Amino acid sequence: METITLNNGVEMPLLGLGTFKTAGDECVNSVRTAIEAGYQMIDTAEGYKNEEQVGQGIAESGIDRKQLFIVTKVSFRSFENAREAVLSSLKKLRTDYLDLVLLHWPFGNYYAAWRELEKFYAEGIIRAIGVSNFEPDRLIDIVSFNKVVPAVNQIETHLFCQRQVERKWMEKYNVRPMAYAPLGQARRNEMFTLPEVTALAEKYSRTPAQILLHYLIQLGIVVIPKSVHEERIKENFNVFGFELTAAEMETLRALDTASPMVGTPAKPEKVEMFMPH
Ligand SMILES: NC(=O)c1ccc[n+]([C@@H]2O[C@H](COP(=O)([O-])OP(=O)(O)OC[C@H]3O[C@@H](n4cnc5c(N)ncnc54)[C@H](OP(=O)(O)O)[C@@H]3O)[C@@H](O)[C@H]2O)c1
Repeated sequence: METITLNNGVEMPLLGLGTFKTAGDECVNSVRTAIEAGYQMIDTAEGYKNEEQVGQGIAESGIDRKQLFIVTKVSFRSFENAREAVLSSLKKLRTDYLDLVLLHWPFGNYYAAWRELEKFYAEGIIRAIGVSNFEPDRLIDIVSFNKVVPAVNQIETHLFCQRQVERKWMEKYNVRPMAYAPLGQARRNEMFTLPEVTALAEKYSRTPAQILLHYLIQLGIVVIPKSVHEERIKENFNVFGFELTAAEMETLRALDTASPMVGTPAKPEKVEMFMPH
C-alpha cells in the first residue's frame, strides 16, 4: 500500500474503504472483505452509526491492529461532549487508540471539540487529528487560533469537484486532502462513460472507476471509495502500478466543474440532515 506522510510524521495509506450508509452484516462483511483484500484503512464516523459493525468486521478479519489505520469522526451534535464521543468510538471499534479522528462538519462549538481532540492527541490516544468539510475560511480559522494544525481535511472530491482552490489552501498549511465520494457516489453515471475516462481505461487496461480513483491518488489525494460488493471492493483497490502522463492528467483536470453534490448544506433537500436536533 502506498502511503503519504502527514504533517506530524504519521504515515497514512493513500486508499481506504468508505462505510457511509452501510449497516448490519453488510457493513461487517464489507470491512472484513476489504481487509482480506489488502485494505489497511477504514473510514467510519459516529454519525454513520456503524462503528460497532466496523469493529466487528475488523475483529473477524483477524488482522493485527497495528497494520490498520482506523479513521472516525465526531458528529457536530457531540461537539460539546467530544471526550465522551471519542471514548464511545474507541469502545465500539474495539481499540485503545485511533489513527485519525476528524471533526465531521464545521458547525456548532467546533473549538471545544478541537481542543478535546488536541488533548487526546497529546495523550497518544489519537495519532493524528483533522477536520472534514472545512472550506478555506473555516480552515484558516482553525489553523490560526489553535495549537495543532489539522493533519487532514476530508472533503467531497471527485472528477467533477476537484477542489483546486481549496487544495491550494490545504497545501499552504500542510493539511492533506482526503477525498470523500471519490466516485461521486456513483450518482452521475457520465463520470464512468466519458470518452476521456474510457479511453484511459482502455489504454491502461483498467476500469473507469479505477481511472477516477487513480487520478486523485496521482494528485496525492487520499481516497476512500465505498462498496459493499466484493468484486468492486477488489476493483477499487487495484488502482496502483501505472502512471498517467502529464497530458492525460491535464485532460482530466479540465473536466472539473468545481461543483460539490454532497457537501453543500445550501441544497434544500439537505436541510434536515444539517439540523442540530
Ligand atoms: N466526511 C463526510 O462528510 C463524508 C461524506 C460522505 C462520505 N464520506 C466517506 O467517504 C466514503 C466514500 O464516499 P461515498 O460512499 O459517499 O461515495 P463513493 O465512494 O464515491 O461512491 C459509493 C457508491 O459507488 C458505488 N461503487 C463503488 N465502487 C464502484 C465501482 N468500482 N464501480 C461502480 N460503482 C461503484 C457504490 O455501490 P456499491 O456499494 O453497491 O458497490 C456506492 O453506491 C463514504 O463511504 C464515507 O466513509 C464522508
